[in-house]
Amino acid sequence: MTRIFSGVKPSGHLTLGNYLGAVRQWVAADQAPDEALFCVVDLHALTVEHDPARVRRLSRQAATLLLAAGLDPQRCTLFVQSHVDEHTRLAYLLECTAGDGELRRMIQYKEKAAKAQAAGDGVRLSLLTYPVLMAADILAYRTDEVPVGEDQRQHVELTRDLAVRFNQRYGHTFTVPKATHPKVAARVMDLQEPTSKMGKSHENGAGIVYLLDEPGVVAKKVMRAVTDSGDGGVVYDREARPGVANLLDLLAACTGGDPAVLAEGYSGYGALKRDVAEAVVELLRPVQERHAELAADPGAVEKVLREGAGRARALARPVVDRAYEAIGLLAP
Ligand code: AMP
Ligand code: TRP
Repeated sequence: MTRIFSGVKPSGHLTLGNYLGAVRQWVAADQAPDEALFCVVDLHALTVEHDPARVRRLSRQAATLLLAAGLDPQRCTLFVQSHVDEHTRLAYLLECTAGDGELRRMIQYKEKAAKAQAAGDGVRLSLLTYPVLMAADILAYRTDEVPVGEDQRQHVELTRDLAVRFNQRYGHTFTVPKATHPKVAARVMDLQEPTSKMGKSHENGAGIVYLLDEPGVVAKKVMRAVTDSGDGGVVYDREARPGVANLLDLLAACTGGDPAVLAEGYSGYGALKRDVAEAVVELLRPVQERHAELAADPGAVEKVLREGAGRARALARPVVDRAYEAIGLLAP
């Protein structure tokens, strides 16, 4: 059996990028409770300026949306990171395994640190150690596969390096995991700025489709998407035509099919945008309907999270205890 672990940060409303790049793969992978674990990684949302009430609200919303998207708590374990202390216990041991230099080289750290500095906010130390906590999330469960979008590739590579290093130094303790990415839409781009990823904490929401956007809002955002100048018609070229390629990727991800082949069916951007808008609205409709039902019963979602945390703790504790012993700490 292959064990799967992945997570989403409650740092903003979930986007179409989260859904296509990650969550949809999770739903497809959703298997036995011991084998698939999905986590709302709330501690990770504290690494940049945050509003406590908002993080709490978004954590509940993210869990509700994951259930609405189709995760079945009978078949997988869904929980909140801060409910399982093993993550932070293990993170410290991995801080004693990782080097300062390799963390400073992380692309996401460099980008986010620069952004925090530009905004006049300090750079939180936890932003630097973020990938170590992420490695702890993954390694605490002896995870085999981590289904994520492309942007997480470097973090999962670091996780692998830390697992190998720890095992070599202290004896075999961790499974060395690998990242898996969807075939299409592993990197959904911002509709207004198609050279950057559609990220939930972008300042300008016009290029971001949120999972809970009303159909009219989704259609407007898609119809206003930036396309590329040039009169070569509709062709799939991620380098030269990033805007159009992104729309074709979205259409392919929603309807199945190959983006380059789909391009052949269009002579103009207008018709393409109309079809993308309709496909995205239809993709989100059942998720939104189910979300409305689940949000009406927050007690039920809390119960799922409580039970999920119990199961997760039972899996992680022996692994983390083993790591404590292996690294040289006296058993209590
Ligand atoms: P985050 O929003 O950073 O917590 O990301 C949660 C998951 O969604 C991760 O697996 C990311 O790789 C994935 N993800 C986030 N944004 C995108 C995007 N624009 N395209 C594809 N995957 C994404
Ligand atoms: N860093 C991931 C992101 O920004 C979120 C995350 C935290 C994660 N811990 C994880 C993803 C463990 C997969 C596995 O998307």
